[in-house]
Formats: sequence, C-alpha cells, structure tokens
Amino acid sequence: MRRLCSLSSGFNARRSAAAILACCLTSVSQVSAATCKQIETRPDEWIRTSVDALVRTARGAYEDDRGQKAYERTVDTIVAAIGRCRLDRDEGFRSRYREFLDYLSVVSLDREPDHELGFNVPDKQYFAETSRYVAIPEFLLTPQFLRSVSRFEKLKEAKLLLRQLNAQRAPSDRLTFFSYESRHLGTPDNDNSFWRLLIVVPGNQAQQLPEKWVQFGISDPRARAHVRNVSVVSAVPGPDGTTNVYFKDYFRTYRRDGSITVKGRWELGEGDDNCVQCHKSGVLPIFPVNGSVSADEETAVLAVNQRFLTYSAPRFDRYLDATKFGPGLGSTDWPELERRYAPDFDNSVVGKSIGCALCHQPNRLGSLNWPMDRKIISSFIKGGKMPLGYDLQTFERAELYRKLIQDYFAIDDSKPGVLKAWLLGRLRQHA
Ligand code: HEC
Ligand code: HEC
Repeated sequence: MRRLCSLSSGFNARRSAAAILACCLTSVSQVSAATCKQIETRPDEWIRTSVDALVRTARGAYEDDRGQKAYERTVDTIVAAIGRCRLDRDEGFRSRYREFLDYLSVVSLDREPDHELGFNVPDKQYFAETSRYVAIPEFLLTPQFLRSVSRFEKLKEAKLLLRQLNAQRAPSDRLTFFSYESRHLGTPDNDNSFWRLLIVVPGNQAQQLPEKWVQFGISDPRARAHVRNVSVVSAVPGPDGTTNVYFKDYFRTYRRDGSITVKGRWELGEGDDNCVQCHKSGVLPIFPVNGSVSADEETAVLAVNQRFLTYSAPRFDRYLDATKFGPGLGSTDWPELERRYAPDFDNSVVGKSIGCALCHQPNRLGSLNWPMDRKIISSFIKGGKMPLGYDLQTFERAELYRKLIQDYFAIDDSKPGVLKAWLLGRLRQHA
C-alpha cells in the first residue's frame, strides 16, 4: 500500500499521462533491446538511452501517479541489464558511470518486495534494529489516552491529559502538541483523512535519547469510521553535526469490547511506505491548512518548526546513503548547469530565487531530488512558504515552479537538467 498525496486530477494530468505512456513505451523497449555485447561495445549510447528513459519516466511519475508503473518498469529493465551484464563488477564501467550505478542502486531498493521502506536492509531488519528509536512512549499508549485520540470530538480530553503530563515534567522535557489539518496527504489507512494530533517528545542529546515526533491520525469531525494510523519520526544526533532520522508507522485496532491496541503496521501485514521519498529533510516542517490550528496552539506550530531547524544535515544512519540520489531541485552552482536561462530571467526576482539547493543540500536540509513528492514541493512554493526570503507574486510562483521542474528533469542533450547531468557524471569536477 502506498501513502498517496491527495491528487487533483484535471486536463493537464490526463494529458501528461497519455504523453508519458506514448514516449516511455518506445524508450523502455530501446533500453531492454540492448544485449550485453551491444552495451559493452557502445556503453555511452546505452547509458544515454537509459538515462533519457529513466529521467523521462521519472518526470511522468512525478507529475502523475499513473506514470509510476512506466517509471518502475524502466528502473527494473535497467537494473536487470546491469545485473545480467555484470556492469557493476566491471572496474572501468564503474568508475566511468559511478553516479548512474549508484543512483540505480538506491532507486531500485524499494522494488524488492521485502524492502518497502526503500532502505538497504529488509524492512524486518530495519525495524528490529531501530525499535528503540521509534517506540511510542508508554504514556501515549494508556487506554485512557488512546480512547481520547480515537475521535475528533474527544481531542479536548487528549489535550487535557497531555497538559496534565506536562505539569509533572521539567520545562525542557515538556511535550509540544497541537492538532491540525494536513494540506498534503491522508493517512495510510484512509486517503481522505487529513486531521492529525502531533506530539513532539523531547529527547536528550547527552544520553543520545531520540527526539520523537509522534503523530496520531484523527478521524474527521462527526466521522464514524476510526483512523488507525500512528506515525513516528525520530531524530538522534549523529557524528559531525548530522542528524540520524528513523521512521515507523503503527496501526490501532479498535476491538468490539472497546479496547484499543497498537501494533506496527508492517508487523500487522498492512504494508509500508518509502518514507524518505517525501521526508528528504528527515523530520518535515508542519505547514497546515490555513485556519485549521486553533489560536492558542499557533505558538506550538512555530515551536515545532523552530525545533525542526535544529536538526541539520539529515541522515538515515547506515540504511541509506541519500547522496546517491544526487543534487536536487534548484541546484545551480555547477558550471554545467549555469546560465541556462535568458539574461532577463536570471535578473528577474524569479531567476534570483531559483537557488533552492543553497539550503536544500546534504549538509543543511537534504536535497530535494527524485524520488520526491509533487504535492509537497508545489505546496511549499505555491503556498507561499518557499523560497525562503522572497516575496513572490502568485504568477511568479507558478513560473518558478515550472522552471524548477523543467530544469531538474530536462533531457536536452545540449542543456541537460540537474538529474541527467548528474547521472551522466557531468557534475563531477565540482563534487
Ligand atoms: C507521500 C509523502 C509522504 C510519505 C511517503 C510519508 N510521509 Fe510522513 N509526512 C508527510 C508530510 C507532507 C508531512 C508533514 C505534515 C503534513 O503536511 O501532512 C509528514 C509528517 C509526518 C510526521 C509528523 C512529523 C513530521 O515529520 O512532520 C510523521 C511522524 C510521519 N510523517 C511519519 C511518516 C512515516 C513513518 C512514513 C513512512 C512509513 C512517512 N511519514 C511517509 C508526507 C509523507
Ligand atoms: C535560505 C534557505 C532556503 C532556501 C533558499 C529555500 N528553502 Fe525551502 N526550506 C527552508 C527552511 C528553513 C524550511 C523549513 C520551513 C518551515 O519551517 O516551514 C524549508 C522547507 C522547505 C520544504 C519542506 C521541507 C522539505 O524538505 O521537503 C520544501 C519542499 C522546500 N523548502 C522547497 C524549497 C524550494 C523548491 C526552494 C527554491 C525555490 C527552497 N525551498 C528554497 C529553507 C530554504
């Protein structure tokens, strides 16, 4: 099961799906048609066709969920060729096409059935090894608390319980919490459920205790069906100012006798998601639906987003090397990528604001690279949050978004976009 961002379908979406389907079919067959002999004798040609197919179908999947299958087929086809022809064992090939091989090694992880999280160990092993970081604190699992978070109408009770807990905790140890409506996605068990109660449980740097962001899905006002999901993202200080981030989803089970139990979603056989594809920055800031947070909880939203900023340089421990996904949106500081726009664009406010990777890069907030989520990217730009420090008008935001996406996914040989240039090893001198 996939966690899906809510989609608004329209003419554009449908049109792009048809276009994607038409072009990927030819490119995929080109990729698969190559024999090992052909690849060995003309590796550059195979790499170029593969990169074009990969980037084109990735863009299709970014723009429309219906493009996902074509993208996955492309990944599978390329990975199969790499394996069949033992390309990754060939020293010469490896050093020449390092970025390409590295990239495929990470984007193909969640194509394996027992790697739904997209990490380099099976999901089972990940959860076994990281359980101490992502366990839900006991005080959020008492029958009384679980009952109070089972309905929107009872949220007041839940918050009262949290305030009582806070009264007994030292100031630095107090929980920060608020409820809000997500503008981005439903819960894994209900695509149409947008309400959340988020509780940030402070960690302890000295004791290497993780800071936990525990989020309960809350059923809509007056809804009869219960929401099952509870998610945890935890942040643990790593070496050299990095932050290791760990993930886990849980599902609640509502029993006839009124009792509520909580168990890992994966352990219950309810599937899992590739968290990192949306959580590039590890923990994500909260950008709720306007007006969904009550006035007395606005400061809590500010406080958690402030806390988010203290986790620099997100890492996923030894489970994923996110640098293999390459640079992200708005990476402009490579000679290969410079001066791709008309001079009047570069001097415009939109042109000047395109350098997202100044902040969204591995040592700050993590790169916004494919696989990534369209809803989140467009919401932060069009919703007025990004780029930080620029006051753009609505039409400028639309223009910026369009340019950013084009600039990342472009496959023109003369002006390759960020992803293609990276995969072809053309950004190396600077890396
Ligand atoms: C489709 C994109 C997407 C996927 C996949 C995803 N998340 Fe999130 N998640 C978000 C967004 C966006 C937010 C920020 C709140 C909001 O806008 O809904 C968020 C917020 C959270 C939060 C609240 C703390 C924070 O980071 O803001 C938790 C906990 C969480 N996610 C856990 C998970 C776990 C665990 C997984 C994988 C099993 C996962 N998420 C997969 C999009 C996603
Ligand atoms: C000067 C630094 C800076 C620049 C430049 C910048 N951002 Fe951000 N970005 C931030 C900060 C800080 C946050 C957290 C905001 C919050 O608390 O809501 C953020 C959050 C985000 C998020 C949500 C978190 C995540 O990692 O997914 C997205 C998406 C995003 N920015 C996209 C962009 C895009 C696209 C651009 C370029 C057009 C951009 N940003 C430019 C600093 C920056």
